[in-house]
Amino acid sequence: MKFFVDTADTADIADLAATGLLDGVTTNPSLIAKSGRDFLEVTREICALVEGPVSAEVVALDHETMMKEAEILRKIADNVAIKVPLTLDGLKTCKKLTDDGTMVNVTLCFSANQALLAAKAGATFISPFVGRHDDNGFDGMALIEDIRLIYDNYAFETEILVASIRHPIHVLESARIGADVATMPPSVIRSLFKHVLTDKGIEGFMADWAKTGQSIC
Ligand code: E4P
Repeated sequence: MKFFVDTADTADIADLAATGLLDGVTTNPSLIAKSGRDFLEVTREICALVEGPVSAEVVALDHETMMKEAEILRKIADNVAIKVPLTLDGLKTCKKLTDDGTMVNVTLCFSANQALLAAKAGATFISPFVGRHDDNGFDGMALIEDIRLIYDNYAFETEILVASIRHPIHVLESARIGADVATMPPSVIRSLFKHVLTDKGIEGFMADWAKTGQSIC
């Protein structure tokens, strides 16, 4: 499963990219606003920090303006994936862009039928929002299971990018189901490294090692 980080904070991205475990980045208009940075400038910087796909979202709601925005965004770097909302105009834009060889991430997916439409429109990624689904009384992970089943039934190549992840169990469930990508806030990625027994084990080994009076180098 690929790991993307869901942020526009370049310090966090650089720090996580240094682990060698980061496969891409997703941003959205709210994350750009939170960064306080210029959209095009910060996207350019992010694209230089990672080799994998960097999702940059259009903000227009009509197909023609989406295409104009996508034209500007895709010139930023070869690893830009244009993010479009799951609307009729968004999927029209998706079809046109992917037919041209541009990566497209279809965002704000909340049903398996929407995911089916995105795959038919040739989306590179579909982003079902599991956390927001859960928040509203639905079962976010059941949505991922349905999409996996449907995509496998028809051998769609669209990658399931689990979004709106809130905690490590969402990541575990995504991996069990066989999602292709999980995009996570930096705090969730960092939490995956942690286990109380790992910390306790290191503490014990270090205390015993100190008693030997030895050093390796
Ligand atoms: C993904 O591409 C989205 O930017 C993101 O996962 C949304 O998460 P949120 O529901 O925590 O805002």
